[in-house]
Amino acid sequence: MQWRHRTGAIEGQRRYWDSAADTTPAWYTATQHHVLDPVFYQEGARETDALFGVLRLPTSGTNLLEIGCGPGRMTGRLAELYDAVTAVDISPQMIARAEFVHRDSHSNISFRTVTGNGDLPFAGESFDGVFSYITLQHIPDPRHQLRYIEESLRVVRRSGWCAIQVRSPSKRSIAHEWVGHIGHTLQRKRTLSPAWRGAKIDLASVESLCRRVGADLSVNHLTLRHDWLLISRN
Ligand SMILES: C[S@@+](CC[C@H](N)C(=O)[O-])C[C@H]1O[C@@H](n2cnc3c(N)ncnc32)[C@H](O)[C@@H]1O
Repeated sequence: MQWRHRTGAIEGQRRYWDSAADTTPAWYTATQHHVLDPVFYQEGARETDALFGVLRLPTSGTNLLEIGCGPGRMTGRLAELYDAVTAVDISPQMIARAEFVHRDSHSNISFRTVTGNGDLPFAGESFDGVFSYITLQHIPDPRHQLRYIEESLRVVRRSGWCAIQVRSPSKRSIAHEWVGHIGHTLQRKRTLSPAWRGAKIDLASVESLCRRVGADLSVNHLTLRHDWLLISRN
């Protein structure tokens, strides 16, 4: 019964994001945008560069995994930095939009739909790095978020890195988020859904996972609402 419940929850998330992709994918990806136009992708590229700079992430390498690529807002820029990018998402409709935009310009991107429960369909030590932005924060079950982190540590090579953004657990950030959810609801966006609101992950569970697999964790509290888990695998 519990399995059926969990599967149902995942299916609900997939439907939510597929429907977002079918209606206003730009807004549900980055709420300051309304259309998947060149500006959307140019700003995605600028934000990618800014994040790689401030987080001091390696800006070149053989292969990179992006978890939660959406319509490929950042994926194109990642594919200019890395020899090859693998981009995954729970939503086939989001992936379809990303593929459409990048198919002619970036032949080094492989897109793949994933189950959404945190499992990654790749062999161990396949990637130089794993990058994920505004994705885990939307996942309602913290066990699935933790599973993504555990799987990232499995698929990244030794001495590789993971930069994974999660929701900040601070009380100020929770209040700020609710102001946003209510404002967006008034604009008729479906931000009260658990598939948007997501969940906080318990940092102690991430610390314990990193200790268990012998990885080094640091947390960058980059903005009020965004914490970055920066993990290097030994
Ligand atoms: C707000 S968008 C961000 C997309 C991209 N990271 C960006 O910054 O442009 C969140 C993305 O996470 C995906 N997503 C939500 N839950 C997921 C899950 N459980 N597993 C994988 N992707 C998920 C959604 O389909 C959506 O494309």
